[in-house]
Amino acid sequence: MEKSRKKFADIIDQAMVAANTMDRDKLLFSYKGILYPATFCSPEVFRAMESLEARSDDIILAGYPKSGTNWVGQILNDLVAIFEKKTQNKESSMNDEELEEFPYLEIGDTGKFERMNKLPSRRVIFTHLLPENLPRSIFKSKAKILLLIRNPKDVATSFYHFSNAMSPLPSYDTWDDFFVAFMTKKMPWGCYFEYISKWNKYADDENVMTITYEELKEHPVLSVKNIAAFFGFSLTEKELQTVVERSSFQSMKKNSQKTHGAFGNLLFRKGAVSDWKNLFSEDQNEKMDKAFEEHIGRTKLGRKLKYEVYCKA
Ligand code: A3P
Repeated sequence: MEKSRKKFADIIDQAMVAANTMDRDKLLFSYKGILYPATFCSPEVFRAMESLEARSDDIILAGYPKSGTNWVGQILNDLVAIFEKKTQNKESSMNDEELEEFPYLEIGDTGKFERMNKLPSRRVIFTHLLPENLPRSIFKSKAKILLLIRNPKDVATSFYHFSNAMSPLPSYDTWDDFFVAFMTKKMPWGCYFEYISKWNKYADDENVMTITYEELKEHPVLSVKNIAAFFGFSLTEKELQTVVERSSFQSMKKNSQKTHGAFGNLLFRKGAVSDWKNLFSEDQNEKMDKAFEEHIGRTKLGRKLKYEVYCKA
């Protein structure tokens, strides 16, 4: 593994080791009313984050955990790499082999943002944060934001398996226990429905594009084309096809030892739509449908989730 990618795997490995010796009730801490994993985030880093100087050409990928952020992150990094190579004949600063900083904005050390301020454009920044908790400079700079959303039943399913595999996150004896925690706002990075409803206020902004996990899965070429157009990358059909192929679940999983280290085995699980059907009881299904209608059913993002198609079918 290349040195810089090793850094990515090292941060996760260290968090896993530290979490193994921690009390279960200390795994999460609360900051401004939201829970976060203590081995990945800290109040000091959140405070230091305000010093980030966002740029208008930054690429921000926002998504609730387990919505497919690593997948779309790979697509964005590849689009940047291919575009920069052909327009500036320069190797991108963000590809498989080079990774200066942990891609999630809120994970790292307090010096991270000063170092990020010195990185060349274009920077690709992932985040699970609510819009109100992002550094103000992101909105001031008019950096473009790609908002990734996924149906809540598959998010919950993915989060359940991930929580039980990752020592930095609380584990659950049963799926039923997890479901209760998910529905009662006990998740790291906050409540799914709150996340969607807060980001919904930005859904019509011209510098925000929304994409669903499900549409990307169903129409990968068209989706990648739309993402490229939004960020102003003109790529040939062949180049777009390369991005699509490199970001398929199979190829990312195959390459994951190199890109994500041992963590890759936990992350690239099924990569499918509707896996929730293997876990949800009839009662849980009804509860989720009700919560969806109540909190986000009538919002733009709620409608975009094509709930009828992906969650009820
Ligand atoms: P599952 O657990 O349902 O398999 P995140 O990156 O935000 O943590 O999201 C992880 C989810 O995205 C996991 O879902 C993972 O398998 C899925 N995923 C990762 N890469 C993918 C890809 N190339 N295609 C489809 N799904 C992918």
